[in-house]
Amino acid sequence: MLENSETNRTFWKNEEKKLDDLLEKAISPGGEKAVARLVKQGKRPVRELINNLIDSGSLFLELSRIAGFGVNYPGVDDVPCGGLVTGIGKIHGNWTMIFANDSRVKAGTYFPITLKKHMRAQAIATQCGLNCVYIADSGGAFLPMQADVFPDDQHFGSMFYNMARMSAAGLKQVTLSTGGNTAGGAYIVFMANESVMIDKMSYSFLGGPPLVKMATGETISAENLGGAKTHTTISGGADHFCTSQDEAIETVRNILSNEQPQKIHMQRSAELQPKVSSDSIYDLLPAAVNKGIDVRSFIETIADGSKFTEFKKNYAPGRGDNIVTGKIRIKGLPVGIIASNGVGIIFFEAARKATEWIVRCSYDKIPLLFIQNSPGYMVGSESEHMGIGKYGSNMVRAASCAQVPKIQLVIGPDNGAANYGMCGRAYKPNFLFNTMRGRTSVMSGRSAAGVLLSIEQRKSEARGKPMSKEEIDLFRQKMVDKYDGEAHPFYCGARLLNDRVLKFHEIREWLATTFEICLLQPIPEPNFGNFRF
Ligand code: COA
Repeated sequence: MLENSETNRTFWKNEEKKLDDLLEKAISPGGEKAVARLVKQGKRPVRELINNLIDSGSLFLELSRIAGFGVNYPGVDDVPCGGLVTGIGKIHGNWTMIFANDSRVKAGTYFPITLKKHMRAQAIATQCGLNCVYIADSGGAFLPMQADVFPDDQHFGSMFYNMARMSAAGLKQVTLSTGGNTAGGAYIVFMANESVMIDKMSYSFLGGPPLVKMATGETISAENLGGAKTHTTISGGADHFCTSQDEAIETVRNILSNEQPQKIHMQRSAELQPKVSSDSIYDLLPAAVNKGIDVRSFIETIADGSKFTEFKKNYAPGRGDNIVTGKIRIKGLPVGIIASNGVGIIFFEAARKATEWIVRCSYDKIPLLFIQNSPGYMVGSESEHMGIGKYGSNMVRAASCAQVPKIQLVIGPDNGAANYGMCGRAYKPNFLFNTMRGRTSVMSGRSAAGVLLSIEQRKSEARGKPMSKEEIDLFRQKMVDKYDGEAHPFYCGARLLNDRVLKFHEIREWLATTFEICLLQPIPEPNFGNFRF
């Protein structure tokens, strides 16, 4: 046991070290040279700006920092941090969504991943009712990929559509322009409720000086065409004139200083520390991802007082407890748990229990935490005849329609329909967190290799050239490598299939804070539609 836990700890610490390296890489695109260039422009790196914007000494919950690595766009392998920092911080005590283009990444232009990240942060802001601050310094669309970022829904135009809709819903949209915001990018300034510009640093125009020259023959400087003075004194497109980034940050804080204080829509009891430290997760979770886990021990590390009040604990032993359900408190907030246990295969009894629990929590208006460690629903004639399809669908319906705040945390396999029933990305959990143990793919590499190999073998036999053992081994290995690569948290994080890869010791803190943010909105009445019985 000791040997296992030591092996696990060493393994996970090593994995999280790789995560740290990637997180570090995202912070400093272009290295010292890029910072020196910013200094010359009178600018600070974006995270310094954010740090000054949020309440002194408070948390910044940065989202998806590993976005954009290895995306391999034409001529661009990596877009560090997706070229855009997003996250939630407190301004005058109110949680606020913050967006900041990193001009060191191709002038802050929008690649598909940048857009996806921007849209995701706007979706969270909408869902949780957060004001938004945009620190805008972007050359607009990344022009070589215009077809992938300009014309469609969820492309460039959706940023402004979202700003308009959020503003109409009473969520303040404030833009601080710290650079060139040209063409489409200019709307981030003009669509805001209030805009702040900086003398000789911020520019905003529908066409820059070269385009104006070409189109009309007029020769004009950027400053006169769309600088801070122009927009605050002539066009009225911006509202506040500042002479430095520091002054501009202070101005944004002032703009948001009269907002109503936020309140959470939940009775909160006093926080209790867990009796079992979150550090023990490093020992608990097996290094081998397909090995079964004792999820109750995991739950003890995140629950106040390590107290887990289990629901239907004794139901259908060996089958019903592949999912564990019940209630905990995290920093005083009640949370309903749906957690994969053991190897996590979902039998129909477990699906029924999970559905019942999701519905009950929805009526009681208790937020839900899905702890995902499941390779899928049970297959085979017995399972099919007992209704695994129908009970699995009920679980998917419950996860889809539950209107309480939902968070998914992936701590193991995350395959097939179990991804649906356990509230994967498509089921719009308010937040989705991965860990270095999470593996998200339609099936495991071994299963996919088996399926594809049987098809390949049939084809080669039909051609009269059966595959040799070497060909079979090579084919299988290629599939396993491909699936292992694509299911990895780095691959998923790079493509924004989660909101952050958490280290084990960060889990409780992040869950507590993000549940609090979700509860800034009142919970609607439940409505589930038709279940099959
Ligand atoms: N698409 C693709 N690449 C762009 C780009 C765009 N819209 N805007 C800038 N870049 C690239 C530059 O080619 C340069 O690439 P490199 O580092 O490989 O040489 C990098 O981003 C930095 O640009 P640079 O012009 O050196 O930075 P700057 O700080 O001096 O100026 C801007 C920033 C935004 C003012 C300036 O780049 C610009 O005017 N860009 C064009 C904006 C535009 O017309 N956009 C319309 C799209 S809707």
